[in-house]
Amino acid sequence: MKNLVKNIISVILERYAKDVSMYEESFLEKTIGARMADTSKNTPGEYCTMLDNNPDEASVLFDSLNNGYSEFFRNPLTFAMLEQFVIPKLVSDNNQENPSEIRIWSAGCAAGQEPYSLALLAHYYKTSHQTNSRFRIFATDVSEKQIQTARQGIYDLKMIQNTRMGFVNNYFTKTGSNYSIGDQIKKQVEFSVYDLLQHGSSAPPVSIFGDFDLIMCSNVLFYYRPETRKMILSKFYRSLKPDGFFITGEAEISIVKNFTAFKQYAPPSAIFFKNQTI
Ligand SMILES: C[S@@+](CC[C@H](N)C(=O)[O-])C[C@H]1O[C@@H](n2cnc3c(N)ncnc32)[C@H](O)[C@@H]1O
Repeated sequence: MKNLVKNIISVILERYAKDVSMYEESFLEKTIGARMADTSKNTPGEYCTMLDNNPDEASVLFDSLNNGYSEFFRNPLTFAMLEQFVIPKLVSDNNQENPSEIRIWSAGCAAGQEPYSLALLAHYYKTSHQTNSRFRIFATDVSEKQIQTARQGIYDLKMIQNTRMGFVNNYFTKTGSNYSIGDQIKKQVEFSVYDLLQHGSSAPPVSIFGDFDLIMCSNVLFYYRPETRKMILSKFYRSLKPDGFFITGEAEISIVKNFTAFKQYAPPSAIFFKNQTI
């Protein structure tokens, strides 16, 4: 299978000018194995030949490599800690006489479920504590299609299943079997297309200078090889404020722990902060 992966990487590069070598090897193997089964190809060689001659299969393979699944409040422990500790700390560190905006980046935001969850918590905190702080949430994804869906803000019941009833009742409108996020939440989030693998920038251009108080990148890193993960994490390190928070997915805690530039905040949570001694 290892040779198969190498062959397929080079076929895709030569034939379709697309580099997939940054994806984590076992993820590539699993995805290609699933495509072989779906296309009834018995040997890696057969699949490789088919891929070479079939742009439609190439596009199905590319889509399978870009898993876009998400849901509101996907990791309940992380969001509970955000609400109880992180958001109050960001607000208390913010000078209430002359508050600056609290800048948040949701990187790899899929169809908006993650940044809207952050916006719901921020809005709720702001209204229940009557703080002067203003939250500004930048949300980016490499997929134009995901960003378009995110801007619409319409979800099915399964996607909002972890959302508490008060939020659903106050901030969503139900139309048929779908739930639309309200404008007061929508307007807190600025969506844009941005590829985390892009060299030469540490933050999405719409944010101008980065300087984030909090970055959330969850269920993205584990799809990439170690050197690519490191490149992405270095980007986050550079674009965070000196005492900024970094939040990842629960399955990615060990990846971030290996990157000593971040320190875990209240282990075993997926919340980290910038290690300024580096
Ligand atoms: C599995 S979803 C996770 C969504 C959300 N963060 C969550 O935890 O539910 C991964 C998302 O990351 C995006 N993504 C993957 N690689 C990316 C990259 N290089 N730059 C920006 N977004 C990326 C995908 O398009 C997809 O929407």
